[in-house]
Amino acid sequence: MKKLLISLTAAGLLSMGSIAQAGDAAAGQAAYASCIGCHGAAGEGGVGPKLASVAPAETVDKLKKYKAGEQVGPMTSMMAPMAAGLSDADIENIAAYVSGL
Ligand code: HEC
Repeated sequence: MKKLLISLTAAGLLSMGSIAQAGDAAAGQAAYASCIGCHGAAGEGGVGPKLASVAPAETVDKLKKYKAGEQVGPMTSMMAPMAAGLSDADIENIAAYVSGL
């Protein structure tokens, strides 16, 4: 019985972990404030590409590349400093937020 309880607790913690991993859109909205100037309040794009309704995995992948100093598109040098200050949690949260715009 004790073993069962432990494994149930572990499963509960794991599923909570995966929810946190998916990103918190409300926190993402706050972190997105510094991006509006180039990507638009609704993620519609402007100086930078449109981010609205992009799949979270794609936004996460690109932001991690900019942060790591990898070349993404022809204007990488404009975007890389923006991503450099983001934590992994910020990246997940922003991706969750813009995917729903
Ligand atoms: C100074 C203007 C500017 C700001 C501020 C800015 N970006 Fe960008 N962003 C760009 C440009 C320009 C590109 C295209 C870069 C390239 O050619 O790879 C880009 C590309 C991106 C991409 C990849 C999009 C794609 O389809 O390839 C993502 C994701 C992104 N920005 C997210 C953000 C986030 C999140 C923030 C705020 C933390 C932010 N940007 C702030 C200008 C900006």
